[in-house]
Amino acid sequence: MILPHGGKLVNRIASTPDAETELRERAAGLKCVTLSRRELNDLELIANGALSPLHGFMTRRDYEAVLDTMHLADGLVWTIPVVLTVDRDSSTADALALCDERGALRAVLEVEDSFEIDRAREARAVYRTLDRAHPGVESLSYRGAVGVGGPITALPAERDGTSLTPAETRAEFERRGWDTIVGFQTRNPIHRAHEYIQKCALEIVDGLLLHPIVGETKSDDIPAEVRLRCYRQLLSSYFPKDRVLFSTLPAAMRYAGPREAIFHALIRKNYGCTHFIVGRDHAGVGGYYGTYDAQRLFDDFEAEALGIRPLKFENAFYCRRCDSMASRKTCSHDEGEHVTLSGTAVREMLRGGRLPPKEFSRPEVAEILLDAMREPAIA
Ligand code: ADX
Repeated sequence: MILPHGGKLVNRIASTPDAETELRERAAGLKCVTLSRRELNDLELIANGALSPLHGFMTRRDYEAVLDTMHLADGLVWTIPVVLTVDRDSSTADALALCDERGALRAVLEVEDSFEIDRAREARAVYRTLDRAHPGVESLSYRGAVGVGGPITALPAERDGTSLTPAETRAEFERRGWDTIVGFQTRNPIHRAHEYIQKCALEIVDGLLLHPIVGETKSDDIPAEVRLRCYRQLLSSYFPKDRVLFSTLPAAMRYAGPREAIFHALIRKNYGCTHFIVGRDHAGVGGYYGTYDAQRLFDDFEAEALGIRPLKFENAFYCRRCDSMASRKTCSHDEGEHVTLSGTAVREMLRGGRLPPKEFSRPEVAEILLDAMREPAIA
């Protein structure tokens, strides 16, 4: 089994009744800060080891090292800041109770240091732009001015039955006897191109971890509950059951393109994957990143420093002349023969009550999306 990033799977959950009681008692005297949805996403992933080797929110040393060098202060590869920001008053405490929007205690943070956040510097380093129209850059403007770093101890997260922890996926891979596992990240319903690259990968590895992100996404992405219906339908109709493990990942999307691709890969390594699919414009948005920038960033790191192997895929499409899925690596026909649709075009079709062509999306999946569009909250 592949080792977690940093060698050891972190567990910061107070998992016995005594540990829980102790944590609640410790929190009782502390100032309570309310975490945003994305901070709660980060908290859950730190606690269950998905962000190993992080034991808590980043201190200044790690934050700055990540921005400037794409490594943690101790030298491990890490590309995305995982910070908790608070108002100035809260930043002077020795410890903080971290609560959700209902005021329920979720964790205690032992504050090691507090530091000024330079939003422009972070935006430039992580998102490669200062444009507020970029959803990641925009999210920076809602944050507090001061970062507070240090280890956390969390109460056990509520389980919704769809999300396995890294320890659980690892145990399941072992039970299934899989040595090589490819992880697939997505924030979308699975279309034919996704299915194609997953199946190409499945030809060379033992199993696929289908691992869609279900934490915070931008408002025009398809909601997770609709996507879940699509994934289940697709898996039961088009995949061999014993070659795929399905689990959701409660992480927030950053839309940071290349840097987020590395982050996504390291997270999947912690879940036990040996390989990770990186296709066209991974974790991109708008035109901020080049189509293959994310793939290229993997070449900047030593293979051993990453541990997990990227499987890089060209832009895939259905070719009418080939009468199959293909890419520029396998098909020489004119672009006019290729069925490609942008997310916006698909949304417009669905809004107009039309199904996207079967060469783009499996009809069973398209029907679910069409039904969902009739729900006012989504259209
Ligand atoms: S992402 O933000 O999660 O990357 P998306 O769900 O669209 O967005 O993509 C999931 C994975 O599939 C990413 O690795 C992406 O690069 C890849 N991908 C999406 N569409 C294609 C395509 N047409 N051809 C090749 N790879 C693709």
